[in-house]
Amino acid sequence: MAKPTITFVCTECGGESLRWAGQCPHCQAWNTLQEFQVRKAQRGREATRPLQASRPVPLNEIDSEHAPRRRLGWDELNRVLGGGIVPGSLVLIGGEPGVGKSTLLMHAAAQVAAHAGGKVLYVSGEESGQQVRMRAQRLGALEPSILLLAENDLDAICDAIRSELPSLAIIDSIQTVTDTGFEGSAGSVTQVRESAARLMRLAKEVGVPIFLVGHVTKEGSIAGPRVLEHIVDTVLYLEGDRRQELRILRATKNRFGSAEEIGVFSMGEAGLEEVPDPSAAILGAAAPTSAGTAIVAAMEGTRPLLVEVQSLVNKNDNSIVRRIANGIDVNRLHMILAVLEKRLDYKFGRSDIFVSVAGGIRVTEPAADLGLALSIVSNHENRPLPDGLVVIGELGLAGEVRRVGQLERRLQEAARHGLTRALIPFGAKAGRPSGLKVVEVRSVAEAVSAVFSSPMKSGAFIEEAGISVS
Ligand code: TYD
Ligand code: MG
Repeated sequence: MAKPTITFVCTECGGESLRWAGQCPHCQAWNTLQEFQVRKAQRGREATRPLQASRPVPLNEIDSEHAPRRRLGWDELNRVLGGGIVPGSLVLIGGEPGVGKSTLLMHAAAQVAAHAGGKVLYVSGEESGQQVRMRAQRLGALEPSILLLAENDLDAICDAIRSELPSLAIIDSIQTVTDTGFEGSAGSVTQVRESAARLMRLAKEVGVPIFLVGHVTKEGSIAGPRVLEHIVDTVLYLEGDRRQELRILRATKNRFGSAEEIGVFSMGEAGLEEVPDPSAAILGAAAPTSAGTAIVAAMEGTRPLLVEVQSLVNKNDNSIVRRIANGIDVNRLHMILAVLEKRLDYKFGRSDIFVSVAGGIRVTEPAADLGLALSIVSNHENRPLPDGLVVIGELGLAGEVRRVGQLERRLQEAARHGLTRALIPFGAKAGRPSGLKVVEVRSVAEAVSAVFSSPMKSGAFIEEAGISVS
């Protein structure tokens, strides 16, 4: 066996370095570099076998799809997976401890097991058989064709997958698995990566799809999902505030589908349920219109999502003011505040500003900029925005309102959920759904005067200078 070479891998971003340093040279995080052993010659036949026969073949003679995807009972899950489970794929499900990863996978296991001939191997390295059984019972997932293996040893896990050849294997979690051929304790970068790489080869060889659970940890003491992202086929993150019901499953990488999709679920007494119409759930839970709230329409993958953003602008005479953003990038907030100060002459230097997205959702799209700006202005002025208004538009540094993609789909979603007015970028070409009064604005200044103009508030729209109404 060749002597291992040592490199260092950041548990935060997965970046590699040749030598140890206190700070990761890639993501600048502190104390996250961990030793990783690279072996020149791999052990055993399994490790050296290539993923495909190594012989050049004409591209058009390669099978396009070996076997159809296995669709699960929830379309919210199928969509994120790119249409269902691909045989032989390795899927990583990351998320903070307690967010609901084991729960989600037990539901998925039950859905596979419900098919004729569907067999699932659930490998639990964290919980005892009794604990897993109790959860399954609670979820109504006590299927005889779900086999439980309480095991940490990778060899034993691989043997079980080979002999059972299940329709789906679940490893909960990859951070508890140990390959005895490598040094280091479970959860170290070496163990996590080498185990995942071996499971990848096995999945491809026997055609069994494998789901890996990976805990995201703030401390960095165990290697998180980031160090695995480039090894696996698909990376899904389960997000959500543990104290709230909504959970978002977000694809960040998918070799078999779009990496933009999200699936929405709700956590309750009997586990998770899919939420096929998230806008309705979000708006249903939204606060009544008050100064500081705005509804925006964000695209999440192929689907528009109506979400409520809230702002609180509070005078603070201390020398330190706070800018706190929940569900929105704080740098985006700083940019929007700077634009409002420069273009509309607001002064926020002596105010704390809190912004958040209701329901524990994260909005990453610039199309929410204008809505966020108006919610800040609305709270600052203590004047609510008009009822039933959706705000769509990206803000540029000059205060201009920029066009956004898929405007028509966003407007349709707003109309479908009973909203009656929309503020959109000027000149955008999009069909106007009936029942929705649409006002086009060129700048954040026009947007502010449009929402606080009396015609808009009363619902009667008139043509104003610079504001086109249709
Ligand atoms: P779990 O799936 O164990 O989280 P993870 O595997 O990501 O660590 O879910 C844990 C949380 O979910 C726990 O706080 C309890 C809650 N929960 C429910 O609210 N309802 C349920 O039916 C179940 C099974 C869990
Ligand atoms: Mg768990």
